[in-house]
Amino acid sequence: MIEAHNITKRYGDLTAIERVTFTVAKGEVLAFLGPNGAGKTTTMRILTCFMPATEGTARVAGFDCFEQPVEVKRRIGYLPETPPVYQELTVAEYLTFVGRIKGLGAADLRRGLDRVVERLSLGDVRHRLIANLSRGYRQRVGLAQALLHDPPVLILDEPTVGLDPKQIIEIRELIKSLAGSHTVILSTHILPEATAVCQRVVIINRGRIVAEDTPERLSARLRRSEKISLIVKQPPADLAARLRALPGILNVFEATDSGALLLECALGRDLRDEVARYVVTNGWGLLELKTVSMTLEDVFLHLTQHEEGLAGGSQTQAAVQIEEPRNL
Ligand SMILES: Nc1ncnc2c1ncn2[C@@H]1O[C@H](COP(=O)(O)OP(=O)(O)O)[C@@H](O)[C@H]1O
Ligand SMILES: [Mg+2]
Repeated sequence: MIEAHNITKRYGDLTAIERVTFTVAKGEVLAFLGPNGAGKTTTMRILTCFMPATEGTARVAGFDCFEQPVEVKRRIGYLPETPPVYQELTVAEYLTFVGRIKGLGAADLRRGLDRVVERLSLGDVRHRLIANLSRGYRQRVGLAQALLHDPPVLILDEPTVGLDPKQIIEIRELIKSLAGSHTVILSTHILPEATAVCQRVVIINRGRIVAEDTPERLSARLRRSEKISLIVKQPPADLAARLRALPGILNVFEATDSGALLLECALGRDLRDEVARYVVTNGWGLLELKTVSMTLEDVFLHLTQHEEGLAGGSQTQAAVQIEEPRNL
């Protein structure tokens, strides 16, 4: 449904994105995950025909974003980073205005308006001025304008930024409910958002795609070791060194905040039993022992830190070598 092929965008000397290639299947929800400045908004603006790529091609529903922008726009609902709302209009006035711009006839407009007001729970604020709405409601109005002409494709640029936790959950639920019937790309710099809402994640950093997979497989593929977290009541000063000498333990780190030791074990080896016995027989007092799985957050840190040459410290010990990022 969406195909980006080798798209590059340069602003003068600055290359914002470079040879970005990915596809999104019909009905799929894809997360575009990356830190600020990674190139998420730039990519979305190209897909929505807001601006052309310097190189490469983008297609939506089979139409070229550069050659056939009208056809593309007809099929896309776009929520930009800053919702394009007019403060001096009421919600109903604004959505009517947007509907007219989108070329909806009177009957379609009325139906569309009722549908989005219902879907985004805007009934109570329908006749309120947008200027007087909370940030959460404004964001909903922004989403309502994207959904108004019931487009098959939605491109949502950081849809939950600035919302409170309750509003975030509501928006995520809404996006999830679009899966299957709609093709969605959402950008985010928040990892749990990608895992909560999306079936596939594209990680972008400094304008390049560094990984692409399902949230689960991404962390599984990048995992190079099992980790155990251990808290001991009265540890001997050289506990880390002693544990490091046990067979099967690759490395031991001190987790700075919790006082826990992080034991890295060879893949597929569960050493909890041995470690527990070792601590208990020495009478040090076992307070906590558990396995720790690598979250997407860790994966993301690895990928981006590696890219930026910041690798180092315990978290990056399991770091993946990314010589060929696209072949991960
Ligand atoms: N209009 C512009 N002119 C010059 N540089 C820009 C412009 N828009 C974005 N950039 C730069 O391009 C890079 C990617 O930005 P952007 O796509 O907004 O990233 P993201 O949305 O992931 O935060 C950044 O380095 C940003 O400063
Ligand atoms: Mg952005």
